[in-house]
Amino acid sequence: MTFPIHRPRRLRRSEALRGFVRETRLSTEGFVYPMFACPGKGVRNEVSSMPGIYQQSADRIVEECREVADLGIPAVILFGLPEHKDETGSEAADPNAAVQRSIDAIRKAKLNLLVITDVCLCEYTSHGHCGVLDAAGVVQNDPSIALLADAALSHARAGADIVAPSDMMDGRVAAIRSRLDANNFQEVAILSYAAKYCSAFYGPFREAAQSAPQSGDRRSYQMDPANAREALREVEFDIEEGADIIMVKPALPYLDIIRRARERFDVPVAAYNVSAEFSMVKAAAQKGWIDEQRITLEILTGIQRAGASIILTYHAKDAARWLKHC
Ligand code: PBG
Repeated sequence: MTFPIHRPRRLRRSEALRGFVRETRLSTEGFVYPMFACPGKGVRNEVSSMPGIYQQSADRIVEECREVADLGIPAVILFGLPEHKDETGSEAADPNAAVQRSIDAIRKAKLNLLVITDVCLCEYTSHGHCGVLDAAGVVQNDPSIALLADAALSHARAGADIVAPSDMMDGRVAAIRSRLDANNFQEVAILSYAAKYCSAFYGPFREAAQSAPQSGDRRSYQMDPANAREALREVEFDIEEGADIIMVKPALPYLDIIRRARERFDVPVAAYNVSAEFSMVKAAAQKGWIDEQRITLEILTGIQRAGASIILTYHAKDAARWLKHC
């Protein structure tokens, strides 16, 4: 007989009480804002399927980074668009490529911002796959991880704080760790996209990063959306190989994976609230079908409540502004 002794509504009577007993306190401190760096100067092109998100040259990236830091967002993650694509994605490790130049510019501006870099080949390869291909068009694991380690090292040299491999090749975390250590970058951390699913939710990103595979798909390296136990195994391997932070991606259809990773492992858990998750909210908001602010904050709260203390999200700037005025 709990009622009438127990009345859960007692603690919901006012915002003061609700705030007092709130279990999840969404904060900008865990946000990471994704940005797309392109070659050139003075370039700022909006991505048509992602309102408010731009492909930008290094000089413009720094300007927006200033705004990001002023909003109290602690970190950005940089993706790069190359000048030229080739079979091996060689521009991924070029010290003068857009990402490396952007890192350098952010460092020179002395912004209070952690710089994370996405480490992958898909934006840089002519075929759009995350690794190199053999004659039959199959993605080759071991030659690819050597190239990914080259890219990670060049990001570290440019001044990245954290490198984030998103390719899903086996053994890439170990390869990157040993390459960084051999070059005296022991302090550069690895955030691994450990449980990255083969998802249709990356569609708008592939327009932003011009990284859609030219043939086939990513099913031979990204995970099957139906698998949860396998995700935990992927996370375990990455931690054993030296990942400092692990990530689950996408976020919303995989909240169970975030929760299970949080319960099973003690490293920080990040989640990527990916491009289509963002675009769907923006599109519905533009049509006047939803309350964008409430929906966005509810989504981000849900991802944090599931167990992610770090959230990569295109909503970061909007959410930071709204949280200030909540
Ligand atoms: C690169 C990469 C992708 C995303 C992040 N890194 C795309 C993909 O794997 O095809 C997706 C991010 C998003 O959708 O916001 N491998």
